[in-house]
This record gives sequence, structure tokens and C-alpha cells, in this order.
Amino acid sequence: MADGTREYWDTRHREQDELASGGHIGLDRPGNELFYALRLGQLLTLIGDLSSPAAPLFVLDAGCGKGHFARALARCGHRVDAFDASQEAVAHAHAEDGGPRYAVAVLDEWRSPWPYDVVLCVDVLFHVLDDAEWAAGLRNLASLVRVTGRLILTDEDTPERSPRGDYVVHRPTAAYRAVIEPLGLRHTLFRPYGFRENPVGFHVFTRTR
Ligand SMILES: C[S@@+](CC[C@H](N)C(=O)[O-])C[C@H]1O[C@@H](n2cnc3c(N)ncnc32)[C@H](O)[C@@H]1O
Repeated sequence: MADGTREYWDTRHREQDELASGGHIGLDRPGNELFYALRLGQLLTLIGDLSSPAAPLFVLDAGCGKGHFARALARCGHRVDAFDASQEAVAHAHAEDGGPRYAVAVLDEWRSPWPYDVVLCVDVLFHVLDDAEWAAGLRNLASLVRVTGRLILTDEDTPERSPRGDYVVHRPTAAYRAVIEPLGLRHTLFRPYGFRENPVGFHVFTRTR
């Protein structure tokens, strides 16, 4: 990850509150409350409503920011690992009450002795500007999903690559499929956030082999 990118995220996580730092920087607090609550509901619909103390789901939240989704999923009984490239974000996440296991790492670095039932990557990949870094991160996340498990990542469902401003590049669904499907996962769903005019949504890939 480029130094400038790391600095951008560290500064944003230091200066913004726990929702604006990882949510939508253009929204006020009530707007970000809605944005997070609505997406958490969508995520739970995708992950399912079962939790078992004897057999928790193993979940990875890659690019967890300050840990909002990671903590919510841990409260639902899942066993959650979470990492982010920003030390500021992870320090904040650590300071909150228990649940997930946090670490500082970038997308293509994370290794695990166990595969995950669900690997999440919410609003991270379209912030990775370099295509080689994006593909390496994506390949690594896909490799961490167990058979029948899911990789849930977010971007627009767009036919073309669309850079927006200094720190966003939306990539076509076909580009995600081209990297992930040869690794044994199938694109099974796109569910738009359905939040105001935001065209981003959840892409779900399921490991079939
Ligand atoms: C918009 S925030 C989303 C945070 C969190 N997923 C959420 O929804 O609250 C993007 C996050 O991605 C992290 N990030 C950006 N590039 C990354 C990379 N290559 N590896 C790991 N984290 C990265 C940033 O530090 C930031 O916390």
C-alpha cells in the first residue's frame, strides 16, 4: 500500500468519528447511522439468522475500519477475525469492548490457519487504486473461503471501470469475476445497498470447489 494512502486512512480515522471514518464522509451523523444500520441488516440477511455457540460461523472482516461490522457480527455469536491497513483504525477497534480479534494488515497479507465461512470486505476494494494490488488482495481473500463459504465484497455493479476523484475506482463486475471465478467461487448475487442514490452493493461469491 502506498504511503500516501496509508496516511489518508490514518488521518481520516484519527479525525472523523467512528461512523464517518469508515462510512460516508459526505453524510452527517444521522445519515451515517442509517447507512450503517441498513447495511448491517442487509449483511445479516446475506449471512443468515442462525448462530450456534457450539459451532459459530468463522467470519473475516477484511478492511474492518474501526470494527463496526466486526463487533456487530461478534455480538450475533460469530467468531470474527478483523484486520485493517490503518493502525489508527485498529487501535480504535481494540479500545472498544471485546469480541473480534483485530490486527493491522493489508488485503494480500492476511494468512489464517483456518478457512472462513464468510469473508467480508466492505467498501475497501474500490479504494485500492492499483490494479495489481487490487487483484492480489482479491485472490488472497478468495483463498480464505471454505468450500460452500462466501466472499461478500462491495462495489458498484458496473460494466466499466470508473475512477471517481482521488481515492475511488469502481471496477466492473466482470473484472471481479475474472479474478475470483477461476479460483473456484461463483458470482451468486448482487444486492444493491438501496441507500438513497448510492449505486454500491454487495457482490456475493460462493465457493463451489
Ligand atoms: C471506507 S473504509 C470501510 C471500513 C469498514 N469496512 C466499514 O465499512 O466500516 C475503508 C477501509 O479500508 C482500509 N483499507 C484501504 N486499503 C486497504 C488495504 N489494501 N488493506 C487493508 N485495508 C485497507 C482503510 O484503512 C479503511 O479503514
